[in-house]
Amino acid sequence: MASNMSENKLLNILTDMKHYHKGYAEYCRKTTKWQELQKWTECAEFESNVVTNLSKKLSGQMDQQIRVLGVGSGDGILEIYQLQKLAAKFPKISASVVEPSELITKYKDTAGRNPVADNITFEWHHRTFDEYLACNGYDKKYHFISVVHAVYFLGDPEVFMKKLYKLLEPGGVLLLILLTDHTGSGSIPLHQSGLKDDTTTNNFVNSSQVKATLEKLQIEYTQSMYTESTDITDFITNDNSEEGDLLLDFLTYTINFKKSAPDDVRDRMMHHFKQGSRIEKTGDGDEKIYFKATCDILFVTKREYAGEYAK
Ligand SMILES: C[S@@+](CC[C@H](N)C(=O)[O-])C[C@H]1O[C@@H](n2cnc3c(N)ncnc32)[C@H](O)[C@@H]1O
Repeated sequence: MASNMSENKLLNILTDMKHYHKGYAEYCRKTTKWQELQKWTECAEFESNVVTNLSKKLSGQMDQQIRVLGVGSGDGILEIYQLQKLAAKFPKISASVVEPSELITKYKDTAGRNPVADNITFEWHHRTFDEYLACNGYDKKYHFISVVHAVYFLGDPEVFMKKLYKLLEPGGVLLLILLTDHTGSGSIPLHQSGLKDDTTTNNFVNSSQVKATLEKLQIEYTQSMYTESTDITDFITNDNSEEGDLLLDFLTYTINFKKSAPDDVRDRMMHHFKQGSRIEKTGDGDEKIYFKATCDILFVTKREYAGEYAK
């Protein structure tokens, strides 16, 4: 059972990437993110903000290769949808993938088993974004950079935003997808903010911070959003579900949340999850509880002359 609140510390899940990846695998099984983002990549917004935008900028050099960078690509499912859209328009694509975890092996397998398109070549970087920069520097610039649900790991938003912007070609497009701070698990740190020594609250990067950073750096962006749902039935209805607990840990950014959170915080969190959920009946009469989260989609296009962050 939970200990006294004043003695309590919640351990940030990012301090144990093995645990994080177990939780992430559970989340991947239970979320509608894949369907939602595949639909979104198929829709006019990706086409106009990325494909059309880049083809206008590159109209004089359409025979050239475009360079694409994925940061925190995971197993590549979402990037492959994006690359397929680009491959239909541009004759040659060089795709660089930066992913520090073993998920990069899955990405390689998928890309190798089922060639994404004949006109794409891959370059694999099994390392963090900062390690990539330490090895490769800024000489290679990219026409399109995709960072989907990975900014949470990149540290100070002002620092990583300058780095990403510097890696863009003039006229290039940066796509950032991340949780908003007012719904879903993005709002959770607010509910935990009363905790002593809570590194989770201090370290979390949300879309408000990223947008404020872009505004401070006077980098223009456009935005839209999508909504995803996660099936949280396991940890709401079953106290002894290992899978449910892993998902709960992932959504609260906390190791062993159920056991380590003080009672009042745990109750508040469960209330938060129930409030943000809807119940659906399945075909066989069971009930499923779905927790909703909205995510921001931000597009940054680098100006042709982009001042001090361009160099
Ligand atoms: C939530 S997952 C998102 C994966 C993928 N983009 C997607 O949306 O399916 C975040 C990914 O960022 C990776 N990551 C963690 N720290 C990183 C770092 N410092 N630099 C680059 N990627 C990082 C993780 O290994 C993980 O695969």
